[in-house]
Amino acid sequence: MRAALTAALALAGVLHAAEPWQDARRSPDARAAALLARMTTEEKFRLIHSEFGEPEPSRGWTKPAGALGSAGYIPANPRLGIPALQESDAGLGVANPLEIRPGDGATSLPAGLAVAASFDPDLAQAGGAMIGGEAHAKGFNVLLAGGVNLQREPRNGRNFEYAGEDPLLAGRIVGAAIRGIQSAHVLSTVKHYALNDQETARNTIDVRIGEQAARESDLLAFELAIEHGQPGAVMCAYNKVNGDWACENDFLLNRVLKGDWRYPGFVMSDWGAGHSAAKAANAGLDQESAAEAFDAQVFFDAPLKAAIAAGEVAPARLDDMVRRILRSLFAVGVFDHPARPAPIDVAASMAVARRAEEAGAVLLRNEHDLLPLAQPASIAVIGAHADKGVLAGGGSSLVTPRGGNAVPGLQPTAWPGPVTYHPSAPLAAIRALAGQARVDFDPGTDPAAAAALAARAQVAVVFVQQWAAESIDAADLTLPDQQDALVEAVAHANPRTVVVLETNSPVAMPWLDRVGAVLAAWYPGSAGGEAIANLLFGKVDPSGRLPITWPRALAQLPRPVLEGAAPGSPPPTAVNYDIEGADVGYRWFQRQRLEPLFPFGYGLSYTRFEHEATKVRIVDGVPQVAVRVRNVGTRAGADVMQVYAQTPDSPVRRLAGFAKVSLAPGEARTLTVALEPRLLAHFDVASRRWVRSAGDFALFVGHSATDLAAPVHVTLPAQTLDP
Ligand code: BGC
Repeated sequence: MRAALTAALALAGVLHAAEPWQDARRSPDARAAALLARMTTEEKFRLIHSEFGEPEPSRGWTKPAGALGSAGYIPANPRLGIPALQESDAGLGVANPLEIRPGDGATSLPAGLAVAASFDPDLAQAGGAMIGGEAHAKGFNVLLAGGVNLQREPRNGRNFEYAGEDPLLAGRIVGAAIRGIQSAHVLSTVKHYALNDQETARNTIDVRIGEQAARESDLLAFELAIEHGQPGAVMCAYNKVNGDWACENDFLLNRVLKGDWRYPGFVMSDWGAGHSAAKAANAGLDQESAAEAFDAQVFFDAPLKAAIAAGEVAPARLDDMVRRILRSLFAVGVFDHPARPAPIDVAASMAVARRAEEAGAVLLRNEHDLLPLAQPASIAVIGAHADKGVLAGGGSSLVTPRGGNAVPGLQPTAWPGPVTYHPSAPLAAIRALAGQARVDFDPGTDPAAAAALAARAQVAVVFVQQWAAESIDAADLTLPDQQDALVEAVAHANPRTVVVLETNSPVAMPWLDRVGAVLAAWYPGSAGGEAIANLLFGKVDPSGRLPITWPRALAQLPRPVLEGAAPGSPPPTAVNYDIEGADVGYRWFQRQRLEPLFPFGYGLSYTRFEHEATKVRIVDGVPQVAVRVRNVGTRAGADVMQVYAQTPDSPVRRLAGFAKVSLAPGEARTLTVALEPRLLAHFDVASRRWVRSAGDFALFVGHSATDLAAPVHVTLPAQTLDP
């Protein structure tokens, strides 16, 4: 009775230190240990497997009592005051809001690629804080966010959830986003660990890659994201890595994550990625997700009990799982700051989403300064439902828009659909900024009609789209629905044509030379229409830079054919990532001497920046690069200063540091960037350490992976980095 009262009061926030684990002055480890010591075996087992929290009438699943109606749920433990875990997707915003207040959606950030293209960790953190805050105000205390799989494959249907091809950029951006989410006392994952870089055959495929290559690429992105963000949980992936399922992979979980990186949080399986009890438990899995719905059975219940009884799993391992889960909950403040329904400042959330898109859209082409639009007398807006909204990517990360889908009924309407448009119409936003201009819209379904409208207007703005979604990859990079013919027709009728891309990642642009301007808007998010208009009219300067390499053709890729992606082609059993190894994206292009359509790090601005006087100082054995950046144009804008390093043992340059700065016309500022030591080293598999070789390091400062000034050379001694 007393315990129940204590727990109730503690849950209500009235009583703080009645029990040692309720004392917020103690460390998360001490609190976890104190609470663990009081738990029965049954209570421990209840924490190590979640249930699917959504009703799914077509499969006869009902929502568990107490669940808000989202991806995952673990009931509260009132005896001990452990809150229920309410887990919602995902990295762009709260994806499962409908059960809380019917008809109520949430705010979606633009695609992860847009946030990465901002090259601005502070902006990523603000985005994380916004979505974390909305999650908390909807009663969720776990956000299944933090997608940091590297873009090895431009056809991957989930590229929009991730942060591009470079481990340093992706790790810093996603780490900052996680930090933001957790600042709202919502535990974030980082996912999908690891090498889940394509959707085709994701539940069966074996990813083959050598250890050094993995450590220097995908695993480095995770390592950095975990260091910067300290996520409470790591979500292990669907695929196999070198023969073992990611969620029962001793190398990935025990050796690298918990061993070498000393990760103190817990590992949860992706939905359907649990395959065993003893093997997974011994390999480092701590919590099995939604097992009754997606795994062959609930392994982390009766089968694990039996495995412990049979001596196949040490009882201490169960305690370790629970301790890790509790530790993360304490560290993030889930006990001390309970998530409960609260009002949301929608205008403030939308401003965050708008700023992210403004900073992350990339201006790829701008002939004769067609942009920013200088008050034309007439504008033809064409295509992609720009009169209604902006496209979102599909799958578990889809954020249900407030006010509903702006274009309902498009196929597919079921998983991984519904194809959804956020109700932020570019047309209305363009009209709002167009002054006296006449602004007409054509849906773009008939190229001849669109061209006729474009011919009558001073400027044509054509929106094109490519819907992509979790669980499916694109077979190629061609825009669907004959949109290339649409752009050709419009550009033929009016060379002052601006193309706005709402795509998952790179697409082929056979008409590129015939259009005036191209803006890559990715999936633009809840306030995307306003952000695009602000960019087109120059209310803000485009400052996004490509977080990926834009290939000229699939033939340039390490795997020109994505096996199994074309309809009817058999699913592959394995994929070989040792072809490019750690040289993902721009590094592969450099190694193979290939010229991309647009390089990593590239993006135009309405102003121009010059880099003056590069200075290098060695601080604590690591180079610091200082560059004076000057805005030599006539408009305010932001420059992304990028530093690439070529080490004595690698002919391939790697991004080793970056910084972004906003400058008024004529203004100059000195940016100082400390290079990431691991990008100057290689991973030595024998010693399991990062080792920097002695010798000459060429440091290149520039505006993209290929637009670089002459290097500054420094000679550095050998160095073994601390683990
Ligand atoms: C996805 C995860 C997601 C989970 C829960 C899976 O299909 O791969 O990213 O968090 O579902 O919805």
